[in-house]
Amino acid sequence: MSESRAEWGKRIERMFSGIVPWYDRLNRILSLRRDVGWRRALVQGLGLPASPRVLDLAAGTLDVALEVARSFPHGQIVAVDFSLAMLRQGQAKITACPTPVAVSLVAADAYALPFPDNQFDAVTMAFGIRNLLDRAAALMEIRRVLAPDGQLAILEFVPPQSGYFLRAYRFYLHYLLPWLGRRLSPLGFAYRYLVESIGAFPSASEFGRELHAAGFEQVEIQALTWGVAYLFYGRKP
Ligand SMILES: C[S@@+](CC[C@H](N)C(=O)[O-])C[C@H]1O[C@@H](n2cnc3c(N)ncnc32)[C@H](O)[C@@H]1O
Repeated sequence: MSESRAEWGKRIERMFSGIVPWYDRLNRILSLRRDVGWRRALVQGLGLPASPRVLDLAAGTLDVALEVARSFPHGQIVAVDFSLAMLRQGQAKITACPTPVAVSLVAADAYALPFPDNQFDAVTMAFGIRNLLDRAAALMEIRRVLAPDGQLAILEFVPPQSGYFLRAYRFYLHYLLPWLGRRLSPLGFAYRYLVESIGAFPSASEFGRELHAAGFEQVEIQALTWGVAYLFYGRKP
């Protein structure tokens, strides 16, 4: 029997909450620190007013929310995640910042955001959409909270396609990464899940079509690091 959206969500929440102590360090090691540049590229691609209202969804330990706060010091930034443990780790990073950072943390499910309609100038989501069982429902909820002309910016891994580099990357993904995940954290299954969930995600062009189908316009797709990760932008009409 296939898992319901709620059961899936509970399992994913437990997995991310369990991996918190290792999460940031493994992101840096497993991506050879490319993840830092990918998140920066996501934020640099935002076309926003000087004091934007930005929702960072599936915010985890706040790497994107903090990047948005650095780029838009007069913005109002809200970080949402359903893992309290992830958000607590993010709060510790806010506290460690040398200058005050205006990021509000909200524990909530991406399918039921506790905000009125038309609230945000942008919604960012890095490595979050792949973990959502019902992408169409999540995109509809994102669209609801975006203001008209508001921007959606997604950073995500897609299944590696053809080409020499991506063949080598596929080897890394299927053999080396799960092995490193087992060696460097006690939660090897989380890194097996990472590989499986990348394999189950649509190609970049298919996901672009899902964004169109969800009502987003001006959809733009940009490959990072020879197609290891992708940026997706769209606007609510
Ligand atoms: C791979 S992490 C990405 C975290 C962060 N955006 C980053 O760039 O490191 C995925 C995050 O999505 C969160 N998440 C997954 N499903 C969610 C849902 N339905 N509602 C809210 N958060 C969710 C998890 O708790 C986890 O923190």
